[in-house]
Amino acid sequence: MNIQVFASGDQLDEACADLIGGMIRIKPRAVLGLATGGTPLGVYRRLIDDYRNGLVSFRHATTFNLDEYVGLPEDHPESYHAYMRKNLFDHIDLPLSRAHLPNGNAADLEAECRRYDALIEEAGGIDLQLLGIGHNGHIGFNEPDRELATGTHVVELAEKTRQANARFFNSIDEVPRLAITMGVGTILKARTIVLMAKGEDKADIVRRALEGPITTDCPASLLQAHPQLIVLLDQGAASKLS
Ligand code: F6R
Repeated sequence: MNIQVFASGDQLDEACADLIGGMIRIKPRAVLGLATGGTPLGVYRRLIDDYRNGLVSFRHATTFNLDEYVGLPEDHPESYHAYMRKNLFDHIDLPLSRAHLPNGNAADLEAECRRYDALIEEAGGIDLQLLGIGHNGHIGFNEPDRELATGTHVVELAEKTRQANARFFNSIDEVPRLAITMGVGTILKARTIVLMAKGEDKADIVRRALEGPITTDCPASLLQAHPQLIVLLDQGAASKLS
C-alpha cells in the first residue's frame, strides 16, 4: 500500500488527476472506474483543465461508474448520471457511448446488474479505479454487513449514508433507499485502486480501513489486500494514522 499525505486538498487533487492523466497517456484505451460524491470533484475539475490545455484526451478511454440510485430519473439533478455529465463528461472528449453507469431505472434490476458486470468484463476489466470512502467505511455503496456481494448488485442504503447524502437533496425523504453498486469483488479486480479521502471527519474511518482488521464491518478494509493500492489523503483525513 502506498499512502501519500498532502498539505492541501488542491495538491491531492493535482496528484490524483496526474495519476489518471498519466494512465491515459500511456494507455489511451484505458478503462477507468469512477466515483461520485464530494471528494473527486476537484480531480474532475483538473482533468477538464488538462483536457482543455491539450494535456490529456479521453477519446479512446472507457469509464464505469461505481454506482447509481435506484428509481431516480437520469435527468434528476442528483442522479449520478447527471453528476457525471455536469462535473466531467460534458466537458471532455469521452464518447458518451463508452461512459457507463448502472441503470437504476431498469425494469429488471437483477438483469441490469449482470449486464453491467458483463460489460466490465468485455472491456477487459478496470485499469484504474477511483474510490472515495463513506463515514461507515463503505466503498461504492457496499455498506458494512456480515457478508459482502462480489458482483454488481442492488443494495439498501444505510441510514448513515442517506443522512450524509441528504445534503444534496431538499430533504432526507427524497434520498432514494436503494442503489445499484459494483461489488467488492469487481472493485478488487481493478488493476490499480486509488482511494481518496479528505477532511478530519474521515480520520477515524481512514484509520479503521487502513490499520484496522480486514472485516466486512468496514468494507474499505478489504482494500488492504489489494496489491496495487494508492491512498491519497489530506492532513485531516490522515490525522489519526499511526
Ligand atoms: C460515490 C461512492 C461513495 C462515495 C462515498 C464518499 O460514487 O461510491 O462510496 O465515494 O460515499 O462520499 P464523499 O466523497 O461525498 O464523502
